[in-house]
Amino acid sequence: MPKIGKCNVSVVSKAKKSEFVDRLNAVYRSRNKCGSGRIPVIIDTDPGVDDALALKMAFGSPRLDIRFVCSVAGNVSIGLTTANALYLTKRYCGDVPVGRGSGSPLSRQATDASSVHGASGIGDYVIPPHSYRLDSDDGVESMYAVLRASDEPVTLVTLGPLTNIATLLSRHPDAKGLIERIYAMIASVDGTGNITEYAEFNAYCDPEALDAVVRSGIGIVFAPMHLGRDAKLAQKDILARGKGTEFGDMLSQVFRGYKDDAAGEGYVAMYDANAIEALLHPELYDFVRCTAEVDVGEHPGRTFLRPDANGGFCYLEIKDGPGLEKAMLDDLYPN
Ligand code: RIB
Ligand code: CA
Repeated sequence: MPKIGKCNVSVVSKAKKSEFVDRLNAVYRSRNKCGSGRIPVIIDTDPGVDDALALKMAFGSPRLDIRFVCSVAGNVSIGLTTANALYLTKRYCGDVPVGRGSGSPLSRQATDASSVHGASGIGDYVIPPHSYRLDSDDGVESMYAVLRASDEPVTLVTLGPLTNIATLLSRHPDAKGLIERIYAMIASVDGTGNITEYAEFNAYCDPEALDAVVRSGIGIVFAPMHLGRDAKLAQKDILARGKGTEFGDMLSQVFRGYKDDAAGEGYVAMYDANAIEALLHPELYDFVRCTAEVDVGEHPGRTFLRPDANGGFCYLEIKDGPGLEKAMLDDLYPN
């Protein structure tokens, strides 16, 4: 079996031989990025306006080796988050496999945030006709195939509810050993919320999933709710920077249908961007060691991230606000 850089293609032969795995192999071979020092990542997302901005930051970064993008129901229904993730990935990240993930929480009724993100999930923007095709209808199984096909542990970046990750760990407990850590926009540090008085939206959508992932013992870097308010960007600055670009034009339509009170009129609460920027620019954040508590009872989705030097997790605090604002704008429009 030919070697590609550090990757030994024969590793793939251990994974369940499937069309998807063969396709993965073709993508990696074409990139030949194995062993290039880039961080292998899988992104799980429910686009979502702030997801779209975070994805664009990830897609333009030379530091990330994006192996797979998986949709999950959250801001809007799985059909819409999948359509949004497919278009954004294929248009702005190129030949990265995209899969359709879980359409409903583990054990609760689905909720959504279309009042914030618009009926489509990406404001007033209408995705143009295109020929992009979904690479997998079972995103969780494909996530597992990607993990097994990698010759090094993969970092998960989650921008929505953790339904896919909890399902992956339940179906394939060995996946835990294939995951480096999880950078997750989810939860709040102090039991407060943005969708209810008590719960942050991603935690509220599927508290059982969050609880299962916390209990799995996988290292989690939390990008908690309050960073969305602290890391807000002015829409006018985002549009000015993107003037004359296709993505900038897209955002002018996206923002017409977006309204998040957390950020205030004319701003975007950059919740999800923090999970990406902490990976790209860790020097801009403090990483606070903590414990994590998830309420799946009286106030579902309520969380407490308590500072603890012996905690198994950490949560982010912004150390350099102006530097983060510059980094987000630079990463949105990298060239
Ligand atoms: O609470 C903020 C989170 O909920 C973000 O991920 C946003 O996209 C929504 O999913
Ligand atoms: Ca999101």
